[in-house]
Amino acid sequence: MQRGNRGGRRARGTFTVALAAVLAACSEGLEYPQTTFQPVTDYGDALNRVFANTFWWTMLILVLVTALILFVIVRFREQPGQPHPKQIHGNTRLELIWTIIPAIIVVLIGIPTVQTIFATQGRPADDALVVEVIGHQWWWEFRYPEQNVVTANQFYVPVGRQVHLRIHSADVIHSFWVPRLGGKRDANPLPRTAEGERQRYNHILFTANEPGVFSGQCAEFCGESHGIMAISAVAVPADDFEAWVVSMRDPEPPPPATQPAPADTLAGAPDTTAGDSAAAAIVATPPPAAQDTGAPPAQQQPQAPVDSTGLPLRGTPQQLQRALAGEQPVADPSQAALIAEGQRIFLSKPCIACHSIAGTTARGVVGPNLTRFGDRPTVGAGALPNTQENVVRWIIDPRAVKAGALMPGTREPAAGFPATGLTDEETRAVAAYLLSLR
Ligand code: CUA
Repeated sequence: MQRGNRGGRRARGTFTVALAAVLAACSEGLEYPQTTFQPVTDYGDALNRVFANTFWWTMLILVLVTALILFVIVRFREQPGQPHPKQIHGNTRLELIWTIIPAIIVVLIGIPTVQTIFATQGRPADDALVVEVIGHQWWWEFRYPEQNVVTANQFYVPVGRQVHLRIHSADVIHSFWVPRLGGKRDANPLPRTAEGERQRYNHILFTANEPGVFSGQCAEFCGESHGIMAISAVAVPADDFEAWVVSMRDPEPPPPATQPAPADTLAGAPDTTAGDSAAAAIVATPPPAAQDTGAPPAQQQPQAPVDSTGLPLRGTPQQLQRALAGEQPVADPSQAALIAEGQRIFLSKPCIACHSIAGTTARGVVGPNLTRFGDRPTVGAGALPNTQENVVRWIIDPRAVKAGALMPGTREPAAGFPATGLTDEETRAVAAYLLSLR
């Protein structure tokens, strides 16, 4: 008896220490930037409370059951010469206890869970900021319909105002997940058949309660570069958000959202929607790239300023983490001439067939919107830290950086798009220009 109690206490003590160590490790801030244990929204807080409630009830059950088992094993173990124990069957009181207590626990877990579901799935507030979140292979598009703003991979939200994410996909199923904002939602392709069905989005409602940069990622396997589909959410005070909107706004309304379909289906799919047709036109018409350069890609600059074998292709996890946490290199202002040249090249090359930059003639809607690209932490949706060298590397050969990327390189075509044919000099200038957009 005595030994049994001591054993139980020791086991519980060891368990408590181990649990505390695990929990401490989980909550160490930036060392784990995608922890769900440090939510920064009302929604994340609500989910955390449900989790904590469930967790501690299950821990209580684990500890009690483990202690009882250990006690029984030790207390009633076989002794030499002991007769067989009395054989019994049924015990009404015990059966009532082990039915009623779990039922009570289920109710105590179930009530706050259902309350939280209703509290977090309600109607959005009248002044909620609507952000349309669109998953693409393999990047994220963010549209602010009321603000006339479109951006990619990094999005801004105001602190203290409810945000209403309307989540869907342009191709396959993705999953939007920024753990510290709370929640995780599949981004489903909108049904393309009945027009009325196009409004089926998944939703997240949250109000950020502190400023910061919060990273996330796609959480549903969506193809070969599923692992390189990062999200950077930036929560800023309301005034800063308004300033950001002004800096991002296009003087003209943005083109409608489209769902670019694979080139092979576009050719034989007359029933695509208007937006898809626009994308189809872009896909079907080869961008004027090759003609502009006047020479086949193979005869152009033989030496790339970066090579895809000698240098590590991906940023280290630490570099990416710092980048996603908001530490970005600053563009070099001494490059003014290069930047101007880069803008001229960008706007005269096939880049604009796929990309938009607010305030310019670049109006493409197939690829990520590049307005204020220099403000983004990474290039390629988390593939590399957003430095000039990496942007050059990306433009030259996106697929060497990110498997399956749909953007053509300077020499290699991709996804039905011809190679862009940019020389390495031109690429350097374009990279400088893009990073100057801040
Ligand atoms: Cu998108 Cu995984």
